[in-house]
Amino acid sequence: MTTGARLDDALPALLGQIETPAYVYDLGVVGQRYQALSQALPGFGIRYAVKANPHAAVLRCMTALGALFDASSIGEVRRAMAVGAGPGLIGFTGPGKRLAEIVEAVETGIGHMVVESLHQAQQTSAAAVARGVVQPVLARISPATSPKGFGARMTGVATQFGIDEEEAPQVLAQIAALPGLDLQGLHFYAGSNSLDAAAIGANMQNCADLARVLMDGLGRLPRRLIFGSGFGVPYHDGQRELVLDELATTVRAALLPLTAYSGVGIDIELGRWLVAPAGQLLVRVLTRKSGRGATIAICDGGFNAHLAACGMMGSVVRRNWPIRNVSAPNAPQEKVTLAGPLCTSIDLLARDLDIAAPGVGDVLAVGLSGAYGATSSPQGFISQPPVREMVWNGRDLIDQTPVWGVP
Ligand SMILES: Cc1ncc(COP(=O)(O)O)c(C=O)c1O
Repeated sequence: MTTGARLDDALPALLGQIETPAYVYDLGVVGQRYQALSQALPGFGIRYAVKANPHAAVLRCMTALGALFDASSIGEVRRAMAVGAGPGLIGFTGPGKRLAEIVEAVETGIGHMVVESLHQAQQTSAAAVARGVVQPVLARISPATSPKGFGARMTGVATQFGIDEEEAPQVLAQIAALPGLDLQGLHFYAGSNSLDAAAIGANMQNCADLARVLMDGLGRLPRRLIFGSGFGVPYHDGQRELVLDELATTVRAALLPLTAYSGVGIDIELGRWLVAPAGQLLVRVLTRKSGRGATIAICDGGFNAHLAACGMMGSVVRRNWPIRNVSAPNAPQEKVTLAGPLCTSIDLLARDLDIAAPGVGDVLAVGLSGAYGATSSPQGFISQPPVREMVWNGRDLIDQTPVWGVP
């Protein structure tokens, strides 16, 4: 974590040294957001979902800030540990864990496994028994409902995630009886990217009520309860950023009563809200084409570099993300469609975007791109060069493009 100049102020002077397409991450922004959240919710753990941005510099920053980690593969567990996070700080979620991943996590002394089914609990128990240890676990519960307005919802329908609320009392009793496990509590993640503080609070209230009913029914004191936050960021025109004070008030109202369980640790689990505003994807305009009533600027990165910004990661309706012309911010406004370099007409970064006219060679920045960017995009498609990843430390912009697959 660093303080210093903001990347946005320094960026125009640095454009000449940036090989596009490139993600740039401002670690100062990550630090500010983390600290604002931890001040707004004192007493609660902040558990960073590594999948949102697993770049080593981001993970190192989170470690320095005191974050806990949610990993969804053994690769993510290794990444967090490689930057100095102790295994005790890491939980391992995921509905499809390979047996080898479970065994490695147990051997590593992972803080807890989040078991998403009875079968996964049985596999984890067997791995623990074989090593003569008792593995702390949380059981992930899939609530039957979540409030309207709560982002991309994962409740009330058949999904691969977690133990359905309807089955939970019996399944939890079976998990609690397994010899290699210490069932310490529950994990909830019912949806993502909500901009409605009231819906976020109502979802947490629902999960908190469920946690109380299930743990009391089991006759156990919870030692850890994890609540996926669902905190969103305003990707599209007309959306309003969440107000942290409002959010904290509603989250506290839902979760504070649970602190009556003596010694319980309560974590808020999230990724995008912490890191999305810290990242931008920079693309360069390669050429322009006008005709049939439209102007198209063709850039050197499209959905190969940023699947989510192209509306291909779970969006029902494709809408433009915030994109600005960094090279020529004062050029006259123009309505332009931004295409990527791929061989398909669906490779569009933006359609009919109002932007300072993007000339050939200009660098455009796609904002809110610090989450679900580089690692969520099919970079190998048509063998485009890998997308660069650069880190701003308050003074220098350093190319730290990782070799993925090498933890
Ligand atoms: C279990 C779990 N936790 C946390 C997250 C992070 O969500 P977000 O980045 O929207 O905060 C996800 C996202 O898919 C998830 O599946």
